[in-house]
Amino acid sequence: MNPNDSFRTRAIHVGNEVDPTTGAMIPPVHFASTFQQPAAGEWGTFDYSRSGNPTRSQMQTTLASLEGGVGSLAFSSGMAAIHCVTMMLKTGDHVVAGCDLYGGAYRLLHKVCNRSGVEVTLVDMTDASAVADAMTENTKLVWAETIGNPRMSIPNLRQLADVVHAKGALIGVDNTFGTPVLIRPLEHGIDIVMHSATKYLGGHSDCLGGTLAVADQNLLDELYFLQNATGAVLDPLTCFLVSRGMKTLDLRVRAQSETALSLAKWLEAHPRVSNVLYPGLESHPQHRLATECFEGVYGAMLTFELDDTIERTAAACGATRLFRLAVSLGAVESLIEQPATMSHASYDATDRARFGITDGLIRLSVGLESYDDLQADLEQAIG
Ligand SMILES: Cc1ncc(COP(=O)(O)O)c(C=O)c1O
Repeated sequence: MNPNDSFRTRAIHVGNEVDPTTGAMIPPVHFASTFQQPAAGEWGTFDYSRSGNPTRSQMQTTLASLEGGVGSLAFSSGMAAIHCVTMMLKTGDHVVAGCDLYGGAYRLLHKVCNRSGVEVTLVDMTDASAVADAMTENTKLVWAETIGNPRMSIPNLRQLADVVHAKGALIGVDNTFGTPVLIRPLEHGIDIVMHSATKYLGGHSDCLGGTLAVADQNLLDELYFLQNATGAVLDPLTCFLVSRGMKTLDLRVRAQSETALSLAKWLEAHPRVSNVLYPGLESHPQHRLATECFEGVYGAMLTFELDDTIERTAAACGATRLFRLAVSLGAVESLIEQPATMSHASYDATDRARFGITDGLIRLSVGLESYDDLQADLEQAIG
């Protein structure tokens, strides 16, 4: 490939070379679990599908190109990818994580990693000096989200990377909401970028997967070792689906983001809505940073707040026709959910209150339907 090829061109061509034996435009999906070896004790490029699979390699090559890494790894889910990162930790280590964090990551850190004596402190990632203050000599990992979940906070990645590296730790970020269309964290000095490929990379609510991409070969080798040793790899058919999804990633994210911006503006003026959290609005606390760091679009996730009870908010979420009531996000179908009872139900009640996951909060994943239909649907649901 030409190194100057654009993001959109690389999404289609890198890793998707024409099959040399048949000329097939789409590389075949390799379902083989095992591969013939040249001789006993000699290894070919592939030997066993947990350790490596041609279809997985192709998908990993595409994603590494889109995130600008030396390589990437594909996992059976986003949580398996985050878990792999935490497997680098040992008893006594400390993690600083964002307080605007996906509920599953919160649960992994507080209810699984704690079992092996790893300690966790949650901090506002938009405040790099608070992150520095929270770090101890045992802090080995800082974990943030490029766009926080569900309050849409946006950390300054370059500042965070500098602070974390000055103290000798690693920093990983979950770029599921952002996608490499908006931001490529490795370019900002971040060590590990993670995705729930279930979301925008796949893009069609039909597969579950996770990825890690890194800029450093030694780190890639270590994560590969842990993945191969524990086994949570992505199966070939799902790799194919994610590869196919990535070809239209740029197009989808840009179109969905434009609709999200229009909906955010409309919601901001709605009398029943007390607050709209969307990086494209001037009222968003990190709007300027998002404008500087994102590639001209602000993403297709948006959160808004009704000044209402948990029950009436749940009823509003259940009253939409096109926005389907479901967790997950990032697909062509629009989804609606109530973080307090759904995506963030695994938070302790005190942490939910502390971190602004209020009863009236509603999160939207804006899909590819037309703006007019989505706006009318929300109007009739929230009245
Ligand atoms: C931001 C974010 N990160 C990670 C995950 C976990 O990914 P998966 O469900 O693929 O395990 C999710 C799932 O909703 C998510 O929204």
